[in-house]
Amino acid sequence: GALILLAIISAYLFGSISSAVLICRLFKLPDPRTTGSNNPGATNVYRIGGAVPAILTLWCDVLKGMIPVWGSYFLGIEPFFLGLIAVAACLGHIFPLYFHFRGGKAVATALGAMFPVAWEMALLLIATWLVVFRISRVSSMAALITVSLAPFYAFWIKPQYTVSVIMISVLIIWRHQANIARLRTGQEQRTRFQRRSNP
Ligand code: G3P
Repeated sequence: GALILLAIISAYLFGSISSAVLICRLFKLPDPRTTGSNNPGATNVYRIGGAVPAILTLWCDVLKGMIPVWGSYFLGIEPFFLGLIAVAACLGHIFPLYFHFRGGKAVATALGAMFPVAWEMALLLIATWLVVFRISRVSSMAALITVSLAPFYAFWIKPQYTVSVIMISVLIIWRHQANIARLRTGQEQRTRFQRRSNP
């Protein structure tokens, strides 16, 4: 009981570290919470500062989900609670304790949380995201379709995680309200890869 509670609290505290904000500060870039889509996540960091800070943000956000679930798994915590620990890491990312509870959308953190317990599913989700992104070039569209399919994937591959996957998918879709509104009116931006080389 106490161990599980401690793991849940640690996951929340871990998730609360806003990688996007810290990495933008490190690279002397504008604050991602008030620039671009105003979202502290890898997509928006890419808009603001390009590939290097974006990949770093993505990786740190993935680790925030991965580390608490991996640690808890090695401590022998049961699947049901590992799912709740994953939810806690995502809640930390969305409502970060150290950043006035104004966080991101938890796409990367959710993916990271999945790796230690369901790597096959994590790979399938990455593949889904990549396919939709290749077609649409819209990060939010790729995330929305991927998380909508995630509960079905879970039910099929890792049924013991279906409930926690549904909880996380609902959270992520709810955090994409502004994106959904922009997608409907055709105002959502495509992500264009630019080569920043000099001739
Ligand atoms: O993972 C977040 C992504 O789905 C959307 O980010 O910055 O376009 O709102 P953004």
